[in-house]
Amino acid sequence: MPQMSTTIDQLCQRLEDCGQAALSRYLQGVTPEKAQNAFAEQIQAIDLGDLQTLVKRYVTGYQSPPTPGSVKPAPYYALDGTGPSGVWARDEYQAKGEQLIKAGKVACFTVAGGQGSRLGYDGPKGCYPTSCVNEKSLFQLFAESIRKNELKHDCVIPWYIMTSPLNHEATVSFFEQHDCFGLQRDQIMFFKQGVMPSLNAQSGDMLLSDPMHLATNPDGHGGSFKALHASGAIDDMKRRGIEHISYFQVDNPHSNVVDPVFLGLHAFAPDSSGEFSSKMVAKARWDEKVGVFCDVDGATQVIEYSDLDEDLAKQTEANGRLSFNAGSIAIHAIGVSFIERVLGDADASLPFHRALKKVAHFDIATGRPVEPDTNNAVKLEKFVFDAIPIAQRSIVVETDRVEEFAPVKNATGTDSIESSKELQSLRAARWLGANGVSVPMNSDGTVNATIEISPLTAVGPDDLASVELPESIQPGQTVVL
Ligand code: UD1
Repeated sequence: MPQMSTTIDQLCQRLEDCGQAALSRYLQGVTPEKAQNAFAEQIQAIDLGDLQTLVKRYVTGYQSPPTPGSVKPAPYYALDGTGPSGVWARDEYQAKGEQLIKAGKVACFTVAGGQGSRLGYDGPKGCYPTSCVNEKSLFQLFAESIRKNELKHDCVIPWYIMTSPLNHEATVSFFEQHDCFGLQRDQIMFFKQGVMPSLNAQSGDMLLSDPMHLATNPDGHGGSFKALHASGAIDDMKRRGIEHISYFQVDNPHSNVVDPVFLGLHAFAPDSSGEFSSKMVAKARWDEKVGVFCDVDGATQVIEYSDLDEDLAKQTEANGRLSFNAGSIAIHAIGVSFIERVLGDADASLPFHRALKKVAHFDIATGRPVEPDTNNAVKLEKFVFDAIPIAQRSIVVETDRVEEFAPVKNATGTDSIESSKELQSLRAARWLGANGVSVPMNSDGTVNATIEISPLTAVGPDDLASVELPESIQPGQTVVL
């Protein structure tokens, strides 16, 4: 097929032009033609235009980012009603946020493209059985929370879900098998995020995972801006009149899928530009694995847990509280027009973060598989929170830890399914307690019972006011409401 061989030749030329001559030679020798075309297609999915610059910046000419001049804790709207410029009125912002939701101007957005390798679960993380009695999946819990909010606010809340090429089909078929958990199929839009090639840490050459495949990794949740646009999700939002996105990660069953107070502050607080706002909880320990909101040289940004200087992380105030206390739970409110602005402005594009990793690969020079015992590859990812300094005015809002953070990240220990289930029971116990139900507690503060409240029953303590509740829960009892 002359047409295709021209294309292969052109692609090889482009590879050579961007410093990937070894891969170009390898592609020329791939047979049969069908396999060569399939391999070429994978290469074409990579943005070769920027590759050489990225290799220079992050591999061959890599220099650690300069140490910031001044790092201070970022200001935030605190739970006690104080804020960056004095006392703020929760009720006022709640009412404003509710109006936005009722008017159909808010959509949910879940980033679910990660590989979930720490959990040791094979399928998409959102399918993981999570609720503490009925083992509802994370996706089901979010779907039911969305449905309950639609009923409360008498509106439709579209839901955008970002997958990756590795879990897209499995995610979509999970929803189809479960009839979208009571939501309409046409209010949910799934789209894939992009991938980045894993690069040889010495030469910057693209690695192969086997003789016929490039080694790639999802391009990070910061890749979501590009993917929202490329998939048509932004156009879909504009058609539906969506102005703000309620963003949360797939790993947190306590995400408040649309929080009126947070959305009200994001859209209407005088020191917010309505572009990019974030939620925080007080850190549990100085070394908790959460990013921290900091003021870096005068601008708010997240410093990832792995990058925060240990002395700063340990620093405390006179009252014993950590100075760098504002832990990110990766929940954001994002203006749709802000995403368009960032995408349209080359100077405002999100930076890549570089991770050195061990990547097993197929060595095209020797024709052999390689199992490295030291880090041999650079992986590149974008982080969505790097959009914070691009926003004109970005705010941070404190929320209660038990209410909104019960992440499922690890197989055991901290942030595991076990710790998440304990927190789920604890939150349910609080909601019941607020409605006069007595709940048995253990001396360590955990609940001496297992309690699951379906999101369809309640997404907050007030929703239980109209529900028939027991007077008390017995020690060791299992309760589903
Ligand atoms: C993340 C945040 C951290 C925050 C913590 C709160 C980063 C880099 N760090 O840490 O600041 O305090 O959550 O729980 O995000 N994802 C994609 N595509 C990707 C990569 C990730 O959709 O390419 C999604 C994952 O599915 C997951 C989320 O992003 O929902 C978080 O990713 P992960 O890498 O697990 O971040 P953490 O280390 O948990």
